[in-house]
Amino acid sequence: MNESSPNIAQKSPYAIDVEAGKSYWWCACGNSKTQPFCDGSHKGGAFTPREYQAEKSATVYFCGCKHSAKAPLCDGSHKQL
Ligand code: FES
Ligand code: FES
Repeated sequence: MNESSPNIAQKSPYAIDVEAGKSYWWCACGNSKTQPFCDGSHKGGAFTPREYQAEKSATVYFCGCKHSAKAPLCDGSHKQL
């Protein structure tokens, strides 16, 4: 893995049904086996997971490419990769 750029887990978002009031830890490094969430695989690397707090229960699109400017959510940047 490159030190400064994350691994592309997939070039599209993950649609996840989140629950109001819950916290989710989005994988920023791209190496987790349980995408889009952190499984601890970032240890020793340059990335740490990002917390997402659900304000309401809804379907949320988490960034799978790890290059979103609005991480942890997809902003369409995956189309440039
Ligand atoms: Fe990717 Fe933890 S496994 S940030
Ligand atoms: Fe990363 Fe869309 S999946 S910006």
